[in-house]
Amino acid sequence: MSSKTTILTGLRVNNDLHIGNYLGALLPMIDLAKEHADDYQINLFVPDLHSFTTPIDHSRLQDAIFDTVSNYIALGLPIDHENVHVYRQSFIPAHSELALILSNFTGFGEMFRMTQFKEKGRSIVAQHQNTNIEPSDTHEVEDQSDTTIRKTEENGSVGLFNYPILMAADILLYNARYVPVGDDQTQHLEFTRDIAERINNKFEQELFVLPESVKHQHEFFGKDQGLRVRDLADPTKKMSKSDDTGKGVIFLSDNPEVARKKIMSATTDSYEDVQYDFDKRPGVSNLLDLYTLFGGSQHEFLGQVQYGPLKSAVADKIAAFLGEHQQMRSTVKQATVESHLQHSEQLMNQIANRHLYDVQRAIGLRR
Ligand code: TYM
Repeated sequence: MSSKTTILTGLRVNNDLHIGNYLGALLPMIDLAKEHADDYQINLFVPDLHSFTTPIDHSRLQDAIFDTVSNYIALGLPIDHENVHVYRQSFIPAHSELALILSNFTGFGEMFRMTQFKEKGRSIVAQHQNTNIEPSDTHEVEDQSDTTIRKTEENGSVGLFNYPILMAADILLYNARYVPVGDDQTQHLEFTRDIAERINNKFEQELFVLPESVKHQHEFFGKDQGLRVRDLADPTKKMSKSDDTGKGVIFLSDNPEVARKKIMSATTDSYEDVQYDFDKRPGVSNLLDLYTLFGGSQHEFLGQVQYGPLKSAVADKIAAFLGEHQQMRSTVKQATVESHLQHSEQLMNQIANRHLYDVQRAIGLRR
C-alpha cells in the first residue's frame, strides 16, 4: 500500500469549513478519491496541532474535529476504501518529531518571508520590541503574563511563525506527491519542496519524495478556478474562516436561506454588464467562478446587463448544495467517525514511524 503514490491534504478546524475550503482543497481530493482510490494512497487528515496558530475556544476543539471529519464523509469521501485514510495529526507523534528535525534545517529568514505570517503576525515584531517587561512584584507578574498571552495569541505566536515547518512534516512524512490546496498555501508547498531537496542533497539520499510543483498540482487536479474563492462582501480579499462578520463567507453549516441572502447581497461593481475579469472585476468574476464550480456554465450570463439573474442562479446552486450536504451530514454517526480515525491512525503510525526511523538514521540519531 505504501508503494502507491500518496495524495494528501488537511484542513484546520479553527472555524466551520466554508465553500472556499471545499472548492480549494476538499472537492479535488474527494473527486479524485471517488474515481481513483484503487490507484493511490489517499490521506485526508485533521491538522489538530495547527489549531492554535490563531486563538480558538479550546473547549470546542473535540467537537470541531468530529465535525470536520463528518464533513469529509458527508461530502462523499469513500471512507470504507482500504486506500483512504482519515486521521488526526496529534495521534501520530512522528509529525511533531519530524517538524522539530526539519526546523533545524530551516533558516529564520526563510520563515520570515512567509506571507501568511507577515499578514497575521504583522505587529509581532513591533510588539516584541515594546514588551521588555521588568515586573516588580508577583501580582504584576500575573497581570503581565495574562496580557502577554492574550497579545501573543492575537498578534502571532512562534507556533504561527513556524507552522509551515509542521505542514512540511505532514506532507514529507508520507512522501506525498500531490497536495490539493488553495492558492494561499502555494508558498508553503514550495517551502516543502525546498526543504526536502535540501535534506536529500545534504545526506545524499532520497529521504523524501518532493511534492510536485504547484503548476503540476494544478495540472493533476485540473480544478484551478477554486483555488482562490473570494469574500462575497469584500471580493478584494479571499474568503476566510477568520472573517469576524461572516457576511462574505458561506459556511458549510449555513442555513441555505441565509447563504442565499449573502449571495444576493454580494458586492459587485458599477460596470454595466456581466464580464469576467479576475483582477479588475473581482466580485462578478467570483460569482461566475462559483457558478461554474457548482456545475453551471457561465456563458449563460456573460454580456447580460443585470447582475440579479446571475446572483439568483449562484444562490440556487449553492442553496441546493448546502441542503443536500447538510442532509448527508446529519446521517454521519460519531461512532463511525471514531472507528475510522482509530483504524487509520494505527496504520499511519506504522508508516510514519518507519519513515521517521530512516530520517533519524540518516541524521545520526540512530545507528
Ligand atoms: P486552512 O485550514 O487554512 O485551509 C484549508 C484549505 O482550504 C484552502 N482555502 C481556500 N481555497 C480556495 N479559496 C479560499 N478562499 C480558501 N480558503 C482556504 C486552503 O488553501 C487549504 O488548502 N496549513 C493548512 C493546513 C495544513 C495542510 C497540511 C494542508 C496543515 N498541514 C498539509 C495540506 C498539507 C491551512 O492552514 O489550511
